[in-house]
Amino acid sequence: MRRERLVVGLDVGTTKVCCLVANVVDGIIEIIGMGMSPSRGLEKGVVVDIGRTIQSIRKAVEEAENMADVRVDNVFVGIAGKHIRSINNSATVSITRPDRIITKQDVHRVMEAARTIPLPPDVQLIHAIPRQYIVDGQEGITDPVGMTGTRLEVDAHLVMGSVTAVHNLVRCVESLGIRIAQIVLEPLASSMAVLSSAEKELGVVLLDIGGGTTDISVFRGGDIWFSKVIPIAGEHITNDITVGLQTPIEEAERIKKEYGTCLVEAVGDEEKIEVATIGGDGTKTVSRKKLAKIIEPRVEEILDLAMQEVEDAGYRDLIPAGMVITGGTSLLEGIVEFAQQRYGIPVRRGRIPQGIHGLRDIVESPIYATGIGLLKYGVEGRDFAHVQAARGRSGGLLTRLFGWFRKFLRG
Ligand SMILES: Nc1ncnc2c1ncn2[C@@H]1O[C@H](COP(=O)(O)OP(=O)(O)OP(=O)(O)O)[C@@H](O)[C@H]1O
Ligand SMILES: [Mg+2]
Repeated sequence: MRRERLVVGLDVGTTKVCCLVANVVDGIIEIIGMGMSPSRGLEKGVVVDIGRTIQSIRKAVEEAENMADVRVDNVFVGIAGKHIRSINNSATVSITRPDRIITKQDVHRVMEAARTIPLPPDVQLIHAIPRQYIVDGQEGITDPVGMTGTRLEVDAHLVMGSVTAVHNLVRCVESLGIRIAQIVLEPLASSMAVLSSAEKELGVVLLDIGGGTTDISVFRGGDIWFSKVIPIAGEHITNDITVGLQTPIEEAERIKKEYGTCLVEAVGDEEKIEVATIGGDGTKTVSRKKLAKIIEPRVEEILDLAMQEVEDAGYRDLIPAGMVITGGTSLLEGIVEFAQQRYGIPVRRGRIPQGIHGLRDIVESPIYATGIGLLKYGVEGRDFAHVQAARGRSGGLLTRLFGWFRKFLRG
């Protein structure tokens, strides 16, 4: 039987809001609508102005609706910002029924135990992703349902974020009469769009360097191990150019994209560019080398901060597949070569994978990585953050209390 449904991804970024509508037939994603509008209400990945964010979202959604000729009533929406935290946690349950066959309820039970960690009142769970299940000591199981065993364990990746940041984003989307199918961590979404399964298996770090944030994620053994968002990206480069060359911000943005590079030594001394002066009443000539000298240290800082996070988390030597970069700033000339030289690892730009159809020539740009990833997440994501164990809520609460108690007893 042909299974067909609409999936919508909404990427509320710092510089643009992008809405992608896809028709999914038997798991194959065909993009049928796309809308984009400049983002006006976010800073460093989080909503700071609800009214303006709603306007930007409305415009992007309407554009996508018109193109696809559908009504959007349900979206997978991305979230980022430095309030995001992630940890790995494991849990175990016993299988006590006589037949010892593991059921879906057992999986929910063990995931509920794994996601039960004490959280401060201003922090909420966003994702609870099973990395692997272990049945009676046998590791590396992705779906234990139907197997026989007495002990079911899970290693899970938990992602948390600020209640206020989540709430503000939800409010913006819901005030337009659109329901949220799920909130998805942007680094996770981007990774689904641009990483190959071989890279994820071997060990790789993905950097989505956007306008306001750089999203970091580390994959190993096919699964996510680490995710973090740092509040520094392309807009900081533009600001530096504005100050360094004394030029308006729109002009700084333009020359960054047209002439910017982060390889100072690759620029000839004779290369000159025309730049508008502040006030807009004239232009001046500056050397392209000067521009590169402004950009290079900022790119170095962004990449170093990201790699420091990877190092601090203990994954620096566990990424043989190297680094993949995506997001708008990955288009900066020389950034791949720069990172390769600096860290001595393989580096490539992310590419939209095969299996995505429709508007491919447009969505090929790295600024759509998160949007495409949201569509993929909508089709194949595994998440237990909102799945209640079959016993219902009170059972959930008991497990939570029990989990807390166990931690308390263990000190
Ligand atoms: N050719 C280019 N060279 C350098 N930078 C570029 C280029 N094209 C786009 N950018 C930069 O990419 C950034 C926008 O990227 P992107 O669309 O991925 O960000 P976003 O999703 O809106 O923001 P974020 O993910 O940080 O919230 C801007 O800072 C822009 O200047
Ligand atoms: Mg982005």
